[in-house]
Amino acid sequence: MHMNVEPANFCRKPGEQNKIRKKSRHELHEYTRKAKLHRVFHKINSCYLVKFVAAMLYFCGMQILDGKTVSQAVKDALKTKVSILKEEGKKTPHLAAVLIGNNGASETYVASKVKSCEEVGFKSTLIRLDENISEDILVKTIEQLNNDADVDGILVQLPLPKQVSEEKVISLIHPDKDVDGFHPMSIGKMVQGLPTFIPATPYGILLMLEHYKIVTAGKHAVVIGRSNIVGRPISILLNRNAYPGNCTVTVCHSHTPNLKELCLQADIIVAALGKPEFLKADMVKEGTVVIDVGITRVPDTSKKSGFAIKGDVDFAQVSHKCSYITPVPGGVGLMTIAALLMNTYNACTHKHPN
Ligand code: GUN
Repeated sequence: MHMNVEPANFCRKPGEQNKIRKKSRHELHEYTRKAKLHRVFHKINSCYLVKFVAAMLYFCGMQILDGKTVSQAVKDALKTKVSILKEEGKKTPHLAAVLIGNNGASETYVASKVKSCEEVGFKSTLIRLDENISEDILVKTIEQLNNDADVDGILVQLPLPKQVSEEKVISLIHPDKDVDGFHPMSIGKMVQGLPTFIPATPYGILLMLEHYKIVTAGKHAVVIGRSNIVGRPISILLNRNAYPGNCTVTVCHSHTPNLKELCLQADIIVAALGKPEFLKADMVKEGTVVIDVGITRVPDTSKKSGFAIKGDVDFAQVSHKCSYITPVPGGVGLMTIAALLMNTYNACTHKHPN
């Protein structure tokens, strides 16, 4: 076979041959040196270096508490459980969601809840009601859902329009179907440490802490916010004699004068006050676990939607000081849905064991 290749020592000018020989010797020497170095590094790499760097990152670095991964793990487990229920001819869990009006954020949350039901094989029913609905009609709708034997869980998306009493609506949902865990009976049982539905966002936070095996016993947890949905229940849950729990808990709110001072003493901070980027780096000590519950839409012309989602924590500043932190979006929000699905599954299997 003929190959038209120039010989390696081909040269055009006299004397160039020697230069090339010298250059080749130099290159060979360089090559051998690099190969030796490479072998040495490879040895170090495979035994000490990698382990050392991993250990340094582990001990010094911050870890993201990834709601996407953890919520997917919860959903995968539920999907398997639901397929077993179906194989055994048992009842499929059924969530009924009531959405009133056209609040953009509520629309997004409810759409995600319904979609997640589909993903794990639950049945779901979405009931949309007009913003101007009377309290009477809403009461009748809830009563119908309470009496519907196929519905296992009921959620009425909050906030409600002004003409409707939130307290009345929540108390009307049958405690056995209260998958939001907002009914006074559910809250009372939770406070006493009895088995019940735990509100979805605090439950999601507990699942996250558990997944990452974060030590909570003996830690000082500071909760910023005292809402019935997040702040108050998570303060009770972190304080209970269980894991995750056994924390010493301080609950801060809009009238707390020394908020920064208290935050600086915290090993765990749960920011649930609904003020975008409220928690700054100078309020956090090194190594704190930071749980960001905030989800606020702020105008942002660079986004197609016209808004950006911001948490209650200034992530860019605070993340450098934390041991663990939840991002927004992609943190607690996704866990809330996973926890709601868990509650719905439990409501179904508790009522229909066979
Ligand atoms: N609005 C904001 N969070 C929640 C929640 O967890 N459940 C309901 N029903 N409404 C909400």
